[in-house]
Amino acid sequence: MIHHAYNLATVSTTAVPHGPVASDSFVTIAYLVAAVLFIMSLGGLSKQETAERGNFYGIIGMILALGVAIFSAEVNRYGILAIAMVPALIGGGWLAVRVKMTEMPQLVALLHSFVGIAAVLVGFASFLDPHQAMTPAELTVHEIEVYIGICIGAITFTGSIIACLKLHGKLSGKPLMLPARHLLNLIGLIVTILLGVWFLNSEATATGIVLLVIAAALTGIMGAHLVAAIGGADMPVVVSMLNSYSGWAAAAAGFMLGNDLLIITGALVGSSGAILSYIMCRGMNRSFVSVILGGFGTDGGTVVASGDVDQGEVIQISADETADQMMSARSVVIVPGYGMAVAQAQHALAEVTRKLRDAGVTVRFAIHPVAGRLPGHMNVLLAEAGVPYDIVLEMDEVNDDLPETDLVLVIGANDIVNPDAEDNPTSPIAGMPVLQVWKSTMVVVMKRSMATGYAGVQNPLFFKDNTRMLFGDARDNTDAMLGGLRS
Ligand code: TAP
Repeated sequence: MIHHAYNLATVSTTAVPHGPVASDSFVTIAYLVAAVLFIMSLGGLSKQETAERGNFYGIIGMILALGVAIFSAEVNRYGILAIAMVPALIGGGWLAVRVKMTEMPQLVALLHSFVGIAAVLVGFASFLDPHQAMTPAELTVHEIEVYIGICIGAITFTGSIIACLKLHGKLSGKPLMLPARHLLNLIGLIVTILLGVWFLNSEATATGIVLLVIAAALTGIMGAHLVAAIGGADMPVVVSMLNSYSGWAAAAAGFMLGNDLLIITGALVGSSGAILSYIMCRGMNRSFVSVILGGFGTDGGTVVASGDVDQGEVIQISADETADQMMSARSVVIVPGYGMAVAQAQHALAEVTRKLRDAGVTVRFAIHPVAGRLPGHMNVLLAEAGVPYDIVLEMDEVNDDLPETDLVLVIGANDIVNPDAEDNPTSPIAGMPVLQVWKSTMVVVMKRSMATGYAGVQNPLFFKDNTRMLFGDARDNTDAMLGGLRS
């Protein structure tokens, strides 16, 4: 047990109130209200119709939480707080305004890394200055919190940085397959536990700090290695998994600081991130454990680059012909993917949808759980363009109707409509549920070239008899289709 903590506890800084200071009971009530607002926010965000309201609750909850924390009795150095907060507010606002929708996943990963490093720093600060007199049992619990908080924080920090670099294309999306990597992870885990036991039994502060630094470095390396080993196709799950880790890191910081709201918020983020990871694993037919252990994209299959395998001729179609085909169809299903986001074609597409519906064509959108580059990516873009929510359906709601559909328009999607996922057990994406668009009477695929999608695998859909390729930028071609429909 580390004795300095008692000494520090006795000299710990008692808050010197400055300005308007919120009383303890007011703080508790305000934190409770903020926690309820966060729960209502999560509830609202679960449906498109209520998402805006959910977002609003979250913003109010966060303003309340921050306001009350700033004016609580523990905070008395507003100058230092301003130095920390003002550049962060400016930097955050600047990033939020500048970021493109397609760059959101890497921004989210970067923000997770901030939560990770914050948990590490809170851990060290809280170890050096526990701020309260503790019994030996309480001190042990506190030190366990510190140790776990620093380890989770370090894993989240480095893992998120690697995820951000991969998603930004600064690091290769290929999994790093070190020999005996599972053994390395296991050894890392065992050493971390042993260091923790040593830390709890160490007497001197200096020894404690050294052990914490070693543990932070070791778990940091493990976090980087774990994410580096995960292949491109599994990155969506990794982002939501890191979201979950960042929640647990925040909860750990809440325990260290004795802050109930941080514990509740961290637990909400941690558990919702875990549930989202589970839903996405199911959407890709992957087990959570196999994602964590990494390697998807190379194991068990051959990744072919575009054009490596001659699968026959493709049949092309023009934008005008596509417009004619859609006008003469009874039912049309539109499958948007990452390319729609890149081309920003959603507004023109919404206009095309309106024209078709006005002409009596049944139009629906089919959304794959991992379409685009972040959960809900397509839903957000379509909502922004004013596409009615009731015609935007989930994959499972549409798949059975596809054989009775006259025309499917695939706009900038690739992996999520790849029949190899069902037909080719050696494909890296084998087993991933996909939209079975090839079962419809006719499929028109809009993309610029024969290039592969995110998973780097060729798509036999393009070579099927009932498929037509509409090459070019999705926005330009949608505008051209709109021109055709208007005339
Ligand atoms: P992808 O398989 O990546 O295919 C997108 C296609 O869009 C590409 O083949 C590309 O072909 C085309 N494209 C790009 N820019 C275009 C433009 N301006 N105009 C027209 N087409 C354009 O996308 P998907 O089908 O949406 O599947 C998502 C993939 O991303 C999955 O593998 C998923 O696992 C992964 N992923 C998902 C997420 C989440 S959470 N949704 C996060 C990270 C990764 P051309 O280059 O030939 O135009």
